[in-house]
Amino acid sequence: MSVTRTLLRSNVRKLRQKLSAIEQKKASNELKQRLSNHVKIQSSNTIALYLANDGELDPMPFIEWCWQQQKQVYLPVLHPFCSGHLLFLLYEKNSSMIKNHYGISEPKLDVTKICPLNQLDILCTPLVAFDHTGARLGMGGGFYDRTMMNWQIHQFYPIGLAHDCQQVDSVPVEYWDIPLPEIITPTQNHRFEVTSN
Ligand SMILES: Nc1ncnc2c1ncn2[C@@H]1O[C@H](COP(=O)(O)OP(=O)(O)OP(=O)(O)O)[C@@H](O)[C@H]1O
Ligand SMILES: [Mg+2]
Repeated sequence: MSVTRTLLRSNVRKLRQKLSAIEQKKASNELKQRLSNHVKIQSSNTIALYLANDGELDPMPFIEWCWQQQKQVYLPVLHPFCSGHLLFLLYEKNSSMIKNHYGISEPKLDVTKICPLNQLDILCTPLVAFDHTGARLGMGGGFYDRTMMNWQIHQFYPIGLAHDCQQVDSVPVEYWDIPLPEIITPTQNHRFEVTSN
């Protein structure tokens, strides 16, 4: 495992964990404003999000907006037998939740609530660090790299969500890392030219 990637992960995770509750709340309200004004979001019906953990930018105010707009919200669930893979399950106000292996809440597995990737319009991914090219460093499980591997074929649009302090000069990338076409922070919408994936 690359020492540089491990160190970068640890440094940036500490930065975001240090944000105060007030800073986090302000950031998540700004995120909601940006996402709810986004043309691609406005025309989409099925959106995968996540529940914030480890100081991640919190999409909950945006999730509430999606519910009000009758958009379907999906959350990642660890695949029960395909290790390293995610399923996306419908998340409603009254969904039954359980804690997964990482202590993160996820909807209780119900096959009737799964959204296949080719029926997803937008996938909002959490990340640890990003750079000016759209390179993404995650928490280290490769879950989102596997999910996004063929996003152009599945025809969903990935958007990374992060605090501004998670931008770094350069993310050291590996061949399996999937770059993002767009990253939204509380203060900016970054768009990147993605030639292939
Ligand atoms: N498409 C893939 N197929 C098989 N293994 C993969 C794939 N993508 C990533 N991996 C493996 O997953 C491991 C972790 O990858 P990486 O360090 O890039 O995770 P990450 O991008 O930080 O995490 P995440 O995507 O969960 O946020 C690596 O050992 C890598 O080989
Ligand atoms: Mg990766």
